[in-house]
Amino acid sequence: MTIGEPATTQVPRMHTFSEVYSDALRGESCTVTGVQVHVPLPVHEWTRPVNHGDRVLLAHCRGATLDVGCGPGRMSAHLAERGHVVLGVDIVREAVEQARRRGVSALRRNVFDPLPGEGRWNTILLADGNIGIGGAPERLLRRTAELLDRTGRVVCDLAAPGTGVRRHDARLVTALKRSGPFPWASVGPDAIAQVAADAGLRVAEVGDHHGRWFAVLAR
Ligand SMILES: C[S@@+](CC[C@H](N)C(=O)[O-])C[C@H]1O[C@@H](n2cnc3c(N)ncnc32)[C@H](O)[C@@H]1O
Repeated sequence: MTIGEPATTQVPRMHTFSEVYSDALRGESCTVTGVQVHVPLPVHEWTRPVNHGDRVLLAHCRGATLDVGCGPGRMSAHLAERGHVVLGVDIVREAVEQARRRGVSALRRNVFDPLPGEGRWNTILLADGNIGIGGAPERLLRRTAELLDRTGRVVCDLAAPGTGVRRHDARLVTALKRSGPFPWASVGPDAIAQVAADAGLRVAEVGDHHGRWFAVLAR
């Protein structure tokens, strides 16, 4: 480049969600757009050891637990260490490999595709916003209801009070890559009873721990 010539700025090129998210899991700085304003994708939240707030949520998991959208597997690893039968599922190969490196049993699967133990799980865990998977929480909860046994429960994190149900077209962006839009949703404690009812479930418990809201859903 000669002096005075404009620097060429690289425009992030389109890649799949899986490719961009895998780079983020490997440590690439990544932004998520379309959910709030542009915010850093909080990958560090999914790769760190569980904290007290996570343990409060996980204390509601009973028996054989399916960790849907397990990411790098910190929640599953904690449950496994405490003697639970636990399986993590995630659509992204890198996430599944990182979960397995934590000693977690994990499969690369879409939650909407056939899964092991359909109708026999005691708990379905939807941690850290995963009630938003697919952008249609009623559909996701109907699917989780198919996976649960008769007395099984869904344990899920919620967004802040006042959120209601919000649907988003989110994208991941790194310096070199951007994903296409993918549907996501947020559900607040104010809306969970209706969303659960639409899926044939009821709220057994809703609460918060230092402002982190969660719900336990049953039939
Ligand atoms: C917000 S991260 C949560 C990570 C993890 N639950 C935690 O708390 O550490 C969402 C995860 O859901 C996965 N995911 C998204 N859609 C999915 C689907 N349809 N089936 C399974 N996993 C999915 C993503 O690949 C990602 O790892």
